[in-house]
Amino acid sequence: MPLVTTTKAGVPIQGPSATLIYDDWYPALRTDTLRKGKLAKAMLLGIPLVLGRRTDGRVFAMRDSCPHRGIPLSVGWFDGNRVTCRYHGWEFEPCSGRCELIPSLSGHDHLDATRIYATAFPCEERDGHAWVYIAGPGSGRKGETAERAVPELAKFGGRYRSAHLSADLPCNVDHGIIGLMDPAHGPFVHQAWWWRSRASIREKTKRFEPIPEGFRMSAHAPSGNSAPYKLLGVYGEPVETTIDFMLPNRRTEIIRCGDKWFSSLTTVTPVTASTCRIDVIAAWNVFYNIPFLTPIARFFGAKFVRQDQETMIQQAEGLKHNPSLMLIDDADKPAKWYFALKQARLDGTGKHPVDAPIELHWRS
Ligand code: FES
Ligand SMILES: [Fe+2]
Repeated sequence: MPLVTTTKAGVPIQGPSATLIYDDWYPALRTDTLRKGKLAKAMLLGIPLVLGRRTDGRVFAMRDSCPHRGIPLSVGWFDGNRVTCRYHGWEFEPCSGRCELIPSLSGHDHLDATRIYATAFPCEERDGHAWVYIAGPGSGRKGETAERAVPELAKFGGRYRSAHLSADLPCNVDHGIIGLMDPAHGPFVHQAWWWRSRASIREKTKRFEPIPEGFRMSAHAPSGNSAPYKLLGVYGEPVETTIDFMLPNRRTEIIRCGDKWFSSLTTVTPVTASTCRIDVIAAWNVFYNIPFLTPIARFFGAKFVRQDQETMIQQAEGLKHNPSLMLIDDADKPAKWYFALKQARLDGTGKHPVDAPIELHWRS
């Protein structure tokens, strides 16, 4: 069931929903929003969550619903160790979800409170994200060990700066992801003097290769028509960039130039079946000593993400009417691969749409 969101102007948007990929890690929120003794809310794949940080530092994520009568646990209390429901005061250990106390039980009751569990999801902190593992519906108690590794931003050494950006998108996760990997929108959506202009369109040839549950744009010298990459040229060493896409929703980009590097991890996370959120985390040691580079990078990055966001808000207006859509060669080939990879994951066939390295051509 699609949920309603609104544009900046308050226009309600109700677009088509996407099939969701379960049994994987998704970023729920930034852990710097987890204040001592406070509970925070988030939503992933249409599931309301309550998150917090225990006194010992561990982060947790529970379904924001008391197993007794369904009131959100987020309106209750948290003392750093236990979450207490505000309706009848049941107390839960938040990492396991185990009920530790039911205040109304008397000596005449035989109910063992500790056999009752609220739903707790595996939750890990990496790069300032609280990653939550969302198991598929009906795959048993949710607090069990996740089989996949927690995603992590690649870093090359201990001295680096970092930043995070985020934007809500009023479209489903599929549109968010194919918008992310689509090379042809760059000159139109991201026109700016410091990036590129429409006039800078030129023919590109990029080599792709299959990787597990994804594909890689093989290491190449970055496009000569964008200013930030030109800047890296000041180090006088060859610049090389590698871009990976991996299911369910991750794009990583690593730029290296001698011992200088820039690394980013972008995720498009389904908030509900019909809306998503883009998060970019980045770390770099290039220009480490230049003061104010972090706010400058954040400013330009935010502008970039905002351009995508504004375009997708406009697109969502069109998608409300469920138009039929097209994917064309070669610029939309990565989008086709994404849909094929996703289908293979959902069907459990493990079939990979890219069987050998291949070159794609487009103008951007
Ligand atoms: S609804 Fe939570 S304790 Fe009753
Ligand atoms: Fe974009």
